[in-house]
Amino acid sequence: MHSSIEARDFAQTHWEKVKYFYPLLFPEISWKEVIEGLASASPQNKETCFKRSLIYFGNDKHAKLSKHPDISPDVKESPEKYLSRITEVFSNEKEYLLVINDAQILIPELHRKLISPFNGIFSKELTRPRNNKASKGGSDLAIFIGRYPQTPIGIHKDPNHNFFINLLGEKSIFVFPDSDDLPNDIVKSKNPSKFLYHGEKIDLENGKAIYWHPSVWHTAENNHSGVTVSLGLGIF
Ligand SMILES: [Fe+2]
Repeated sequence: MHSSIEARDFAQTHWEKVKYFYPLLFPEISWKEVIEGLASASPQNKETCFKRSLIYFGNDKHAKLSKHPDISPDVKESPEKYLSRITEVFSNEKEYLLVINDAQILIPELHRKLISPFNGIFSKELTRPRNNKASKGGSDLAIFIGRYPQTPIGIHKDPNHNFFINLLGEKSIFVFPDSDDLPNDIVKSKNPSKFLYHGEKIDLENGKAIYWHPSVWHTAENNHSGVTVSLGLGIF
């Protein structure tokens, strides 16, 4: 159906020219590299970022992560051990999703690697890390770790240009192109599954990525019952 294109080619030919979505090939990144990067971040940065992180338990309102202080990976534990530990911590939850925002502070080398296809194409401003929430022009990185059947917030738009990179656990992404005004019952639905046939389905294997413009409504389903790891690179 869709063939993937290199992120660099995408940036040269499609960026800002078409308000749409594209399957992309990014520099190779493994989920283990992400967990190892988180584990070896400085304790101070870990504390700051994990405090800002969010956790969703299905349709329940999200809770601040400070209620689960022991959820960051430890430098002495392997990535596999970390996934088993969080599986254990949340074994009583039907589903959970941990969202670590501003991860470019924790793992700057991973952030640099992700924006590397765009070097020399976008302006410096577009690919610099975000320094504070008020700044315009930059990029930030979010890490998603969890065991959940579908995106907890349902069908939504992101505020930024988004590059979503799937690292562990295959997903189906549903995008709703040309849909500036999706009906409210679809957007606000707590059970969007019955509306997914309105969208275009893209299966995202491990290591594959997709770009979507801020105007594109989207959501995801996991085709996998275990823990999944993915990244969101936002450019604003
Ligand atoms: Fe999103």
